[in-house]
Amino acid sequence: MSTSESPHDTTGAAGETFEESLLKKALGGNIPAHIGIVMDGNGRWAVSRGLKRSEGHRAGVESLKRCLPALLRLGVKFCTFYVFSTENWKRPREEVQFLMDLILEYAKEDRSEFIRQGIRVIPIGRWKEMPRQVVQALSRLSLDTAGGDKLTVLLAVNYGGRQEIIDAAKHLALSYEGRKKELLAAGEEEFRQFLYEPTAPDVDLVIRTSGEMRLSNFLLWRAAYAELVFTDVLWPDFGPADLYKSIIEYQGRERRFGDVRRE
Ligand code: FPP
Repeated sequence: MSTSESPHDTTGAAGETFEESLLKKALGGNIPAHIGIVMDGNGRWAVSRGLKRSEGHRAGVESLKRCLPALLRLGVKFCTFYVFSTENWKRPREEVQFLMDLILEYAKEDRSEFIRQGIRVIPIGRWKEMPRQVVQALSRLSLDTAGGDKLTVLLAVNYGGRQEIIDAAKHLALSYEGRKKELLAAGEEEFRQFLYEPTAPDVDLVIRTSGEMRLSNFLLWRAAYAELVFTDVLWPDFGPADLYKSIIEYQGRERRFGDVRRE
């Protein structure tokens, strides 16, 4: 069920829909600079409807598309979507193949829509190890949307948080080759330059759908101080109203970053 079909989406006294009132409320608070989303529950959504798991993934792409205008309305500058993890290769071969085809289709078909909306798309992860056609389509998408300045969408494809840290550590070490003393003096600021997309800020909010409460190797470095919001909604049912609610929940949290509360 899409959010617009939600039974809660009633028109209020001021003539505004439930979704609009949530948006207004969210806009009254602090908007996270970078949101990470673990789009979980596609399989369960499909199976509960007697459909194939692949149909859940297809519906999941529609949810992602529904979220983009909502992110733009909120003024969120960066959003990372967990599309395919380094562990997802363990899935049945047909499901992996379906996901590859879906990524390829999405990267090709939505290119002009991203450009129209001013969205820059950047793949992150070991995505260059994906099948050649997927790599080509993602490279082209990234190149063609490079001018987008409203929102940056990071597509985590063949992504693993541990792998990101290992890759960054190797590149950091290589960049200091022959300068051991300087390498040993390098700290967080030097290290973060070697993360997959160094222009992206730390993650303020991680949202995971489908009731699962874990990070699953997602953005481990950048989400060090992120607020975690878990919702029971399955990803294909997730829509703008759920995104606004997650942000309102985030706004209710007190972020201390290791400090103490100061009155
Ligand atoms: C988790 O649900 C979802 C994934 C592993 C894939 C995420 C992919 C999409 C939302 C669609 C592809 C996106 C693009 C941009 C092409 P699950 O399969 O683990 O669900 P389950 O836990 O209910 O089995």
